Amino acid sequence: EHTEPGVGADSPVVVVANRLPVDQVTGPDGKPRWQRSPGGLVTALEPFVAGRGGAWVGWSGSAGEAPEPFESGGMSLIPVALTDDEVDRYYEGMSNASLWPLYHDVVEKPEYHRNWWDTYVQVNKRFAERTAEVAAENAIVWVHDYQLQLVPALLRQQRPDLTIGFFLHIPFPPYELFTQLPWRSAIVEGLLGADLVGFQRPSAAANFVQLARRLHDLPSRKNVIEYDGRTVTAKAFPISIDVAAFDQLARSPEVLARAEEIRKELGDPERIILGVDRLDYTKGISVRLNAFEELLEDGQVETPGTVLVQVATPSRERVEHYVNMRETIEQQVGHINGVFGSIAGPAVHYFNQSMPREELAALYRAADVMLVTPYRDGMNLVAKEYVAARSDLGGALVLSEFAGAAAELKQAFLVNPHDIAGVKSQLLRALRVDSREAASRMRAMRRHLAKNDLEHWASSFFDALRDQDGGQPSGRAV
Ligand code: ADP
Ligand code: G6P
Repeated sequence: EHTEPGVGADSPVVVVANRLPVDQVTGPDGKPRWQRSPGGLVTALEPFVAGRGGAWVGWSGSAGEAPEPFESGGMSLIPVALTDDEVDRYYEGMSNASLWPLYHDVVEKPEYHRNWWDTYVQVNKRFAERTAEVAAENAIVWVHDYQLQLVPALLRQQRPDLTIGFFLHIPFPPYELFTQLPWRSAIVEGLLGADLVGFQRPSAAANFVQLARRLHDLPSRKNVIEYDGRTVTAKAFPISIDVAAFDQLARSPEVLARAEEIRKELGDPERIILGVDRLDYTKGISVRLNAFEELLEDGQVETPGTVLVQVATPSRERVEHYVNMRETIEQQVGHINGVFGSIAGPAVHYFNQSMPREELAALYRAADVMLVTPYRDGMNLVAKEYVAARSDLGGALVLSEFAGAAAELKQAFLVNPHDIAGVKSQLLRALRVDSREAASRMRAMRRHLAKNDLEHWASSFFDALRDQDGGQPSGRAV
């Protein structure tokens, strides 16, 4: 990668997210190199920013000095530095051990520490300052996710000329949970610095409006809040993927050949069940392992005719909740394979690895049943990728009701991940569904996705931002 001083200066559209779309890692030769960052935020935003030639302000994924801004894949990338302590307190602490569990229904108990919060404020200030430096006059700035909730207000103080949008990729909790947060008012005020605050679900937007009303006594009409002489709109914009691009990838001859090869290498089972996740406790990986194990015990499913492939990308590996969960899952996999595996192969093929997009697409094409069982998930793009990959109308999707995607992919086999009996029976139905019913479900879901793709998401957000900004007292058109 080449660096170019002045890259990104004066950008008309600036995306701000904790992570850049690429991560700086140390290669086997000891030299630094860039690789794609994990997670749904990057999956969704990258094609959007690349397509518009925008600038992206974010962290490089490792502690220490920030690399110079550089151009990559049609984007201007503007790295922000984090020290070791900041990674500890702002990223692993406040973002991923306080806010992440709190916003996901306290699936794990959030911890609150004052020094984590102080560092969160400090890092949000740095992101706001860096953004203020690169945004052109009257630019549109789009801030993303729970790590940067103070940036909208901080940025507005420095640059009142900007139009500021914010999008939260994860759920937003109800008043009763959110108000646990010792710094609840500061977070709400931070978000109110935006002109438009976007959420995955209408209920999340309603939770935010209610907070502004009850906590700050702010007048609101439906989804519009009056604040500081301006109006702030809160609205749902369910995120999506570049459906056409993924569909095309998944029907390429290379991917189709690889899908066949995968089935052979797995020993030609009749049924392949697949899970693909970041290794996160919100994803309900244990739930599906339990369901699979019980079905094997009951004799309703048999190995080697049926196998489960679980791909779990390493994630947030120094946060305690994640360390514990990984141990639990690896023990569970070991146990199931000990009892139900054979010389011919294991019952559960578990990979604690990140895989290339092509390999994931091939896995989706090979999988008869896709298991997506989060306890709570803002959207879940894996579910959408699976549907986008199945132009053959094959395969069946088992999907948690608690994923944002369930509101759209209604023809999936929906499950409550807390109800193990229900998960087992839906998994069995999906394994046994006849191909006509499966095709009709898949066709309906694909029809929905074709209209509701990434471009639709981004343009609805921008249209709403433009409408909103036109209505402000300062009245600029975007
Ligand atoms: P989250 O944002 O919480 O990680 P999503 O399901 O919305 O969850 O997005 C996950 C993204 O990461 C998807 O684009 C998926 O393809 C990708 N991904 C998940 N697991 C892997 C893996 N093992 N290797 C490569 N990419 C992965
Ligand atoms: C989710 C979050 C993103 C985050 C991603 C990966 O998608 O919404 O903000 O970037 O997970 O997590 P990480 O902590 O590795 O950035």
